[in-house]
Amino acid sequence: MSGRVLPADDPAAISEGARLLQGGGLVAFPTETVYGLGANAFEARAVARVFEVKARPSFDPLIVHLSDRADLGSVAVVAHPGAERLAERFWPGPLTLVLARRPEIPEIVTAGLDTVGVRVPAHEAARKLIRAARTPVAAPSANPFGYVSPTTAPHVAELLGEAVDLILDGGPCRVGVESTIVSLATGTPTLLRPGGVSREELEEALGTPVATCPPPAGDPLAPGQLARHYATRTPLRILPGPAGPLSSDSGRVGLLAWRGPAADTGYAALEVLAPDGRATTAAARLFAALRRLDALGLDAIVAEPCEERGLGHAIMDRLRRCAARA
Ligand code: TXA
Ligand code: MG
Repeated sequence: MSGRVLPADDPAAISEGARLLQGGGLVAFPTETVYGLGANAFEARAVARVFEVKARPSFDPLIVHLSDRADLGSVAVVAHPGAERLAERFWPGPLTLVLARRPEIPEIVTAGLDTVGVRVPAHEAARKLIRAARTPVAAPSANPFGYVSPTTAPHVAELLGEAVDLILDGGPCRVGVESTIVSLATGTPTLLRPGGVSREELEEALGTPVATCPPPAGDPLAPGQLARHYATRTPLRILPGPAGPLSSDSGRVGLLAWRGPAADTGYAALEVLAPDGRATTAAARLFAALRRLDALGLDAIVAEPCEERGLGHAIMDRLRRCAARA
């Protein structure tokens, strides 16, 4: 009964997933950002299994996923006027709002915080699953803690296979990096994690600047901010600019290039993120490219930097965390 994969566009598979969630099971499902590992958000025991399967520290809260914006009041208290505005503009979509939590949400979901992260994913299958389960779904990315997030169902099967009751296969994720996390729990909207919605878009929707959370000291507010996260096993370094030819004594090095290198001589492997020069293309390919390079047993991976605008902000954030050696 473990590690089953069913097509996410099959209504019977959605019903089966919903039944499993209602019974306290774990269902991996596609979203537009990355695959999630879902549990009934109101069932503390089911949520505890998520932490166990991911080997995730219990101080790291989960995002609660809704099928509909109208359900927000069942999990959070909406006090900040910006919350409605952002929800209306970006949901369904890659934005997580951190708001005051309703007491019905078990503490294990929020790691004891008095806030809860909430989003309505843009993937049709995700919303159908949550709607059919008739409950909000707590879901982290479907990877072991600290490792690169899965953007296809086979990635999930490889990473967590046997530990999951069902994997719904909805194809590759369209956005490819996780949701942007914004806290509206205090007065000033604060960016906790850059992601699929850019800072520029947020500020335009709010009409005010968005603060950036200072790097965490001790227990982080959003452990997605942990310096080393989204990591490959192979050491990764970000180049100061476009890649040049590799010197002969560098060992077996893989190159994560932006548009395709002018001079790629000497590299053992090459992944091009944005053949069309677009950050959206690069984001959608990022994690799969990192996984492919990581599977080659290389001595190192070097990555070309991208412009930190729009989605480029989230891409550089993930590369920096990958490069950080804790
Ligand atoms: O795109 C996404 O957000 C994906 C898909 C599956 O929805 N989910 C995801 O979940 O990336 P996860 O668990 O890998 O990352 C969630 C991040 C963590 O860094 C966690 O600390 C933060 O969200 N978070 C959740 N609730 C929070 C809260 N109440 N306050 C601050 N940060 C919170
Ligand atoms: Mg994650």
